[in-house]
Amino acid sequence: MTGVVITGIQWGDEGKGKFVDMLADKADFVVRFQGGNNAGHTLVVDGKVYKLRLLPSGVVRDGVTSIIGNGVVFNPWGFFEEVQQIESQGRDINPNNLMIAENTTLLLPIHMELDALREEHAQENKIGTTKSGIGPAYEDKVGRRAIRLCDLAHEDYLKQRLSLLVAHHNVQRQALGAEKINEEKLFADIKAIGKKILPYVKPVWKILDQAKKESKNILFEGAQGTYLDIDHGTYPYVTSSNTVAGNASAGTGMGSGFAHKVLGIVKAYTTRVGEGPFVTELTNNIGEHLAEKGHEFGTVTNRPRRCGWFDSVMVAQSVALNGCTSVVLTKIDVLDEMEELKICTGYKLNGEVINYVPASIKDQENIIPIYETLPGWKSTTYGITTEEKLPIQARNYIKRIEELIGVKASLISTSPERNDTIIREKPFS
Ligand code: IMP
Repeated sequence: MTGVVITGIQWGDEGKGKFVDMLADKADFVVRFQGGNNAGHTLVVDGKVYKLRLLPSGVVRDGVTSIIGNGVVFNPWGFFEEVQQIESQGRDINPNNLMIAENTTLLLPIHMELDALREEHAQENKIGTTKSGIGPAYEDKVGRRAIRLCDLAHEDYLKQRLSLLVAHHNVQRQALGAEKINEEKLFADIKAIGKKILPYVKPVWKILDQAKKESKNILFEGAQGTYLDIDHGTYPYVTSSNTVAGNASAGTGMGSGFAHKVLGIVKAYTTRVGEGPFVTELTNNIGEHLAEKGHEFGTVTNRPRRCGWFDSVMVAQSVALNGCTSVVLTKIDVLDEMEELKICTGYKLNGEVINYVPASIKDQENIIPIYETLPGWKSTTYGITTEEKLPIQARNYIKRIEELIGVKASLISTSPERNDTIIREKPFS
């Protein structure tokens, strides 16, 4: 079998959707392993635009089985809303082509409410979450009081689990000035949606194990990005899951050694949504130009994204953290009009030069970036599909990035269109 992981290696929004879709064409299985409906993947297939949040990108392709792994926090109401939307666009989603792991954590409306309440009360300490309930749902999982999809089949047990959960949430809600949970109504709602969900619930690890034995192509679709990883990101301004490629194993039940290739998706500059440090941020007209030209607005929240220069220190670290075998460089065309380009090649911290992202947020805030300046190309690269047609300055920019991060770009994207890609190496081969 060939296992390929696609993962964002900055702060998310690197343009994973286009490549997940490109690879889904060759995949037998497309698997989500972390996050929930905080993610936003836009796919353009045969002129149709599909917006996915929780559903794996395989749902827009015939002959592909989509899998939601146990590492995901699963909002069933969000799921059916999305299913309805995608079905209205002519797709058919059913328990034969989409399966959800039985040990997946349930994300409930009370998680979304708690997420929003906390953000409102946090003021200057807010994380800037998507308010999808992701953090509270993972907290309940790790606190061992969550409801899992397999619990939906056992009514009495489900009731017990819900009481435990509601008692815990009510304490927090009280402290935040919110009403108590209407437990009876919530139980009835869960029971009703549970009936609809259960046909999709399967021992996913077993299905993937069989797929492995049958040498199927399995694509693991990461959400968010490395610097939003709960352990390796710019904590506490992170999401609540492990976004790194290694979690494709724990988040699905695949054993280790499952990934033959790890493709790190990386933008030719840097963006971030929400709060938190950003060493190469540009709060000037260059940043505004990148945001405008790159259409840098959050897919889920529509918030403007912060923009900055390419930071090779953080990307080189991501390459190591994910075990990237190559990167996919996106949005090179957004840089077309730039007079010159800066690449961050090192950090200065307390007078010393360092070549890694320190874990402390206090250190991250005090970093002074060291830049190298390269000439821009001042001509269009939009839609170019062969390397020779790229201006020499663009080729040099890419080459320098590759030298600094230590791996090659196997694919280079020159527009949102699927075919506008320079293919140096085929991912499934
Ligand atoms: P949460 O995942 O909703 O808890 O949000 C935590 C942080 O992750 C916030 O800074 C969000 O903006 C960010 N975030 C969550 N999902 C995405 C995504 O898909 N793309 C980019 N940023 C994200």
